[in-house]
Amino acid sequence: SETGSLSIIVLGASGDLAKKKTFPALFNLFHQGFLSPDEVHIFGYARSKITDEELRDKIRGYLVDEKNASVKSDALSKFLKLIKYVSGPYDSEEGFKRLDKAISEHEISKKTSEGSSRRLFYLALPPSVYPPVSKMIKAWCTNKSDLGGWTRIVVEKPFGKDLESAEQLSSQIGALFEEPQIYRIDHYLGKELVQNMLVLRFANRLFLPLWNRDNIANVQIVFREDFGTEGRGGYFDEYGIIRDIIQNHLLQVLCLVAMEKPISLKPEHIRDEKVKVLQSVIPIKDEEVVLGQYEGYRDDPTVPNDSNTPTFATTILRIDNERWEGVPFILKAGKAMSSKKADIRIQFKDVPGDIFKCQNQGRNEFVIRLQPSEAMYMKLTVKQPGLEMQTVQSELDLSYKQRYQGVSIPEAYERLILDTIRGDQQHFVRRDELKAAWEIFTPLLHRIDKGEVKSIPYKQGSRGPAEADQLLKKAGYMQTHGYIWIPPTL
Ligand code: BG6
Repeated sequence: SETGSLSIIVLGASGDLAKKKTFPALFNLFHQGFLSPDEVHIFGYARSKITDEELRDKIRGYLVDEKNASVKSDALSKFLKLIKYVSGPYDSEEGFKRLDKAISEHEISKKTSEGSSRRLFYLALPPSVYPPVSKMIKAWCTNKSDLGGWTRIVVEKPFGKDLESAEQLSSQIGALFEEPQIYRIDHYLGKELVQNMLVLRFANRLFLPLWNRDNIANVQIVFREDFGTEGRGGYFDEYGIIRDIIQNHLLQVLCLVAMEKPISLKPEHIRDEKVKVLQSVIPIKDEEVVLGQYEGYRDDPTVPNDSNTPTFATTILRIDNERWEGVPFILKAGKAMSSKKADIRIQFKDVPGDIFKCQNQGRNEFVIRLQPSEAMYMKLTVKQPGLEMQTVQSELDLSYKQRYQGVSIPEAYERLILDTIRGDQQHFVRRDELKAAWEIFTPLLHRIDKGEVKSIPYKQGSRGPAEADQLLKKAGYMQTHGYIWIPPTL
């Protein structure tokens, strides 16, 4: 692997994303030995005029919690020492020249080999400043060719608001950097059970013959949070739940559930297959959409009183190919719901010729619980233990906490940042993938923005509008009654 100086530059260093996600992920990588103090330097860049020490103070509290404070305190002070701060506007030559100077000084002091100018720019910024910032990086801060290495940039969603604005953003950035230098993060692709999806599907004979329209009745990909948009109403109202969760996170998961087997595990082979799935999705019908907005959402002073922005949505996608024609893919996401969880639920068709007369007990389901309590379980019908011949729903259960005791599951951002350093784009969104994703949702989003599709009010802490459950039923999803999976406790 590569050696020599590595500079990680976090732009928007004092913002929410940097504090809550980027710096903690960098610290965890450092703590586990993936970022060597002999090579790495971290630079924060933002507008506010603060000192190195003030930046360190701002982020310190996010890096450790009460439980691990003593274990990590030594690593923490070493890590914080690696961070330098440079202040400047996002569109000023002068600021970026100073940034380049700071990086270069570090590179010269750490020059150990060819490839000593590795520069990773993490844009923890609102997309409105992506174009000027990318221009400045390109003009003043790319790696020094005499030292070798590379320049990469990491960008976060939202990548635009619709097809047109996303394409515009892509062209602006694409004019400055090559696709292999651009890492579009979707942190769902860094989650353990999302990363497991291809292994499950393509390394298990059990699933190969079942994974298609002959056996699967419907697929649900569900995200719920039990809190509202507190504190980010202004951002959220402009985007809504489809742009915030469905068009990116859930759609990425859908790709992995639905794609064909890639030729190999090369990132381009995998992403080629994902693009094909997205391109096979047919236009969403209004009658296969239910939108909701929780009561009280508009009390937020940054949200307009007549906002139609959905905080909940159920939409059915249909993939018009040989494997999936006729199988509804139900994507559902909501804020301020009764629980907090994300899962993938594959529901199988009924058994033909039901000699046990047990059909109404529920169908086979394969559930992948992404969070919390990572697990996979398969709902089966079995004989009720005892003298009578009765059937009951039960499960085969692989709960990670129980099966992998003592193994800590890495944070999504940790893995993905490590990938950017290693130059592996498998778990990042390619430009054509992004475009295809926007193509699916843009017509619907425009109708919502114009108020042509309305959000139905729902109570905070509920399941969302009842209309969504009716839509699921219409799509053929059969809810199981009298059975509930209980995550095992240790
Ligand atoms: C973000 C959304 O991308 O994902 C947030 O902007 C959401 O609204 C978050 O809360 C959920 O991520 P996770 O990893 O907590 O499921």
